[in-house]
Amino acid sequence: MHRLTLIPGDGIGPEITAAVTEIIKAAGVEIDWDVQTAGADIAEKEGVPLPERVIESIKKNKVALKAPVTTPIGKGFRSVNVALRKALDLYANVRPCKNIKGIKTPFDGVDLIVFRENTEDLYAGIERQIDADTAESIKIITRKASERIFEYAFQYALENGRKTLHAVTKANICKLTDGLFLQCGRNIAKKYPQIEFKEILVDNLCMQLVQHPQIFDVLVLPNLYGDIVSDLTAGLIGGLGVAQGANIGSECAVFEPVHGSAPDIKGQNKANPTALLLCAVNMLNYIGEKAAAERIEHALMKVLEEGKCVTADLGGTAGTKEFTEEIIKNL
Ligand code: NAI
Repeated sequence: MHRLTLIPGDGIGPEITAAVTEIIKAAGVEIDWDVQTAGADIAEKEGVPLPERVIESIKKNKVALKAPVTTPIGKGFRSVNVALRKALDLYANVRPCKNIKGIKTPFDGVDLIVFRENTEDLYAGIERQIDADTAESIKIITRKASERIFEYAFQYALENGRKTLHAVTKANICKLTDGLFLQCGRNIAKKYPQIEFKEILVDNLCMQLVQHPQIFDVLVLPNLYGDIVSDLTAGLIGGLGVAQGANIGSECAVFEPVHGSAPDIKGQNKANPTALLLCAVNMLNYIGEKAAAERIEHALMKVLEEGKCVTADLGGTAGTKEFTEEIIKNL
């Protein structure tokens, strides 16, 4: 029996969490979920959106599955997601992006992986209002955080047969901050001569990603560009409903999809649980439940490939519940 932290989140979070935990249970994996709530409702009840108990739970259990949590836009509390990543020092945000059979997109042969630095950059949240008409935000880049994300990405590339790694920056403009990030990439690259190291500016990368994404393999980016580019790459393979992710630190790992809480479709039985389910598959592999992970992935891919019972974001008419039942039938 595994004891793992589960954060059902808000918006579509609880719906997709219910779907995924049901599928894991049906696959026969015994998990004693330590359910931890966070977000706006909790801020009202407990005074803070990310209570210490959530962090303590993950520190104790080492692994968490997390659905999205809403962040108020332009006002209110700071992102629970960003705070969690910082509190647990989950420095590597890993977002694989590969075509899925049955999901039609303008591109075939996409198989890339985005490594987003997860702890600093403009997400340090150091902002101030200088006067009524001026605000500023501070972009922090450190050698320590930059070197370890490159180290992690290069190591991953080596272990997983990847060939090329692009360092993505805007070092022509942000000469000191992105310049330092790039310099760290160049330094770490020397230790990995087996992997071809390339440099690209983020604007050029975006253009090329929508022209010929197949040429990209491993991308390493500072936090903000990584956030934006990984939504773009999610779009290449069928959208946010199918884009998985993981936040990895030296002590803990939190598996969470790329997408947010999708308030526009909340509570309507429309949410696609695929992204969270792929995160769960990745998590099951991570905790050694490889056979169950394989069965779930196989069933999911079969349902997606058949395309008869898929959610609206993939062009189907099935609801979250019908899609979930179909996967369970195929286990
Ligand atoms: P979003 O990712 O929630 O939604 C963007 C679009 O994609 C919407 O049209 C939504 O319906 C669709 N979508 C997303 N996930 C889907 C799924 N599983 N199935 C079907 N359709 C899906 O992005 P948005 O609207 O910008 O953000 C909403 C909230 O989520 C914000 O408060 C934001 O801060 C938060 N957020 C939280 C994240 C996290 O918890 N890690 C990550 C990204 C955003």
